[in-house]
Amino acid sequence: MEIAACRAEDIVVLDRFMPSYSIDGNHRARFARQEAGESTYLIPWLDGRPVGHAEVRWTGCAAPEVPAGCPEINGLFVWPESLRSRGIGAALVREAERLARRRGIDVMGLGVGDGNPRAAALYARLGYRPTVTYVDRHAHLDAEGVRHEHADPCVFLVKELPSGPLDVKQP
Ligand SMILES: CC(C)(COP(=O)(O)OP(=O)(O)OC[C@H]1O[C@@H](n2cnc3c(N)ncnc32)[C@H](O)[C@@H]1OP(=O)(O)O)[C@@H](O)C(=O)NCCC(=O)NCCS
Repeated sequence: MEIAACRAEDIVVLDRFMPSYSIDGNHRARFARQEAGESTYLIPWLDGRPVGHAEVRWTGCAAPEVPAGCPEINGLFVWPESLRSRGIGAALVREAERLARRRGIDVMGLGVGDGNPRAAALYARLGYRPTVTYVDRHAHLDAEGVRHEHADPCVFLVKELPSGPLDVKQP
């Protein structure tokens, strides 16, 4: 398994294997934020196909309840489900942390929904601790193009990144 930042030519492949109907979180929107320097859109590849994603938002969590100054891992996802519980999600989190440390950033955050205890357990194992509660507001378009709004109660988790020598892997 390899993890790499999304390239323009990957978008059509991502849309084929992992279609997204989110307005703010579809592959093209995430790639555009990466191009603007606001994020890094990480894609894990296995046997030549994408098997998930994670967007590291260097600008932090968009929710007003979450204090500024902490980058956020957004849209962590492993697909298909048969590939879960094999360490791909944890590898994406660790890669995000490595990129942060290369930038001289010593903290990382991510949000988890109140109804997602398994993901919360993973983040606790990786060293993330609860800070503030907030409401994750997002929207998607259905097959008829109708917009649906969502407001999910979440907790923002934060981890102080350990200091020490960085590995030699290039970005
Ligand atoms: C959460 C997620 C990214 C973890 O990826 P992963 O590759 O399965 O993670 P790892 O193999 O590194 O770690 C496995 C752990 O993830 C957690 N987990 C959360 N949801 C899970 C799921 N649906 N299936 C398997 N593991 C899940 C569990 O703590 C699991 O540990 P366990 O196998 O001992 O139960 C993945 O399960 C997923 O895409 N879930 C749906 C989307 C989601 O909930 N994203 C997180 C938003 S905050």
